[in-house]
Amino acid sequence: MEPIFETATVAPPPSGLRIESFVDGGAGGERALADDVLDGLTRPFKELPPKHFYDAHGAQLFDRICDLPEYYPTRTERAILTANADAIVEATGATELVELGSGTAAKTRLLLDAMRRAGTLVRYVPFDVTESMVRDVARALVDEYDGLDVHGIVGDFDRHLHRVPDPNPEGSRIVAFLGGTIGNFTPGSRRRFLRRIAAMLAPGDHLLLGTDLVKDPAVIEAAYNDSAGITAAFNLNVLRVLNRELDANFDLDQFSHVAFFDREHEWIEMRLRSVCHQSVRIERLGLDVEFAAREELRTEISAKFTRDRLTADLAAAGLQLAEMYTDPQDLFAVSLARKP
Ligand code: SAH
Ligand code: TRP
Repeated sequence: MEPIFETATVAPPPSGLRIESFVDGGAGGERALADDVLDGLTRPFKELPPKHFYDAHGAQLFDRICDLPEYYPTRTERAILTANADAIVEATGATELVELGSGTAAKTRLLLDAMRRAGTLVRYVPFDVTESMVRDVARALVDEYDGLDVHGIVGDFDRHLHRVPDPNPEGSRIVAFLGGTIGNFTPGSRRRFLRRIAAMLAPGDHLLLGTDLVKDPAVIEAAYNDSAGITAAFNLNVLRVLNRELDANFDLDQFSHVAFFDREHEWIEMRLRSVCHQSVRIERLGLDVEFAAREELRTEISAKFTRDRLTADLAAAGLQLAEMYTDPQDLFAVSLARKP
């Protein structure tokens, strides 16, 4: 796959804007989707990786989740960043912000503003699997921040982390991973992923990590079972992606949204439950998938953290917790970590 560089079509792109794409259609690439579905739907306990939620429609639904009264993580993380962005910039001296799973970069502006206030802001590198989001964010930010270099990467952070451009040796870097997305990894791959991030950090660079915290299970469960049904629509959207990209015939009315807090593992588990016994055809894969009545397909876990869990995960990746910023109710945390 050739990288796609921004080229002048109608108007020349603003200087300082560059976008590279490493995925070929579909979230994470069509081939990757086919592999994931073939592997995940033929397992004894069916599952799908969460990256395929976020096509353009899914990204819109996620935006609406973030505004739901029950979904406390986004607004809490925003409040934490509002209160501490200047301290974060002062502690890191960051000239560059690399953001994994950047989405609409709604909270990112708080950090970029603080870097601008400190006079250190040079470059922003948004990295997301959804092409439209990287393009829109990159264009908007070069306009909003005078002289900012934006180098967008359309990629799958499970496969393309090495595509993040080399840091400027004179500057220092924050790699931000916000929204609690780190919780969507299972524990072992979470540590492996943190290790890969650590490899992108030079001495003096920092990881800025957003994690949802362990709390009253009723509060957590409500965040993933909103009364307006947006979360259900978001969860079901992955089946729509399969129908479109792989020519499958999932009937979305025959699956229902399930989300519950697993108290032993301290994670939320999102599933789709087949309401009846049914068979689904996935044409592109030449695959028929049988679902028993009430059989469940796991679509995501969202792990919740304690300070101890976070410290241990970071240590396993060769990183040290430097600072943990929380809200007054200890709902969510934004942490700075670095190489010891
Ligand atoms: N950081 C934003 C968005 C969080 S939602 C916030 O805090 O609100 C998770 C984001 O990660 C989505 O934008 C999704 O497209 C992206 N994402 C999920 N899996 C990914 C993967 N494997 N590679 C790259 N981006 C991914
Ligand atoms: N990363 C988000 C989280 O763990 C994604 C999310 C929110 C989500 N609500 C969801 C994923 C519902 C699937 C279904 O909080």
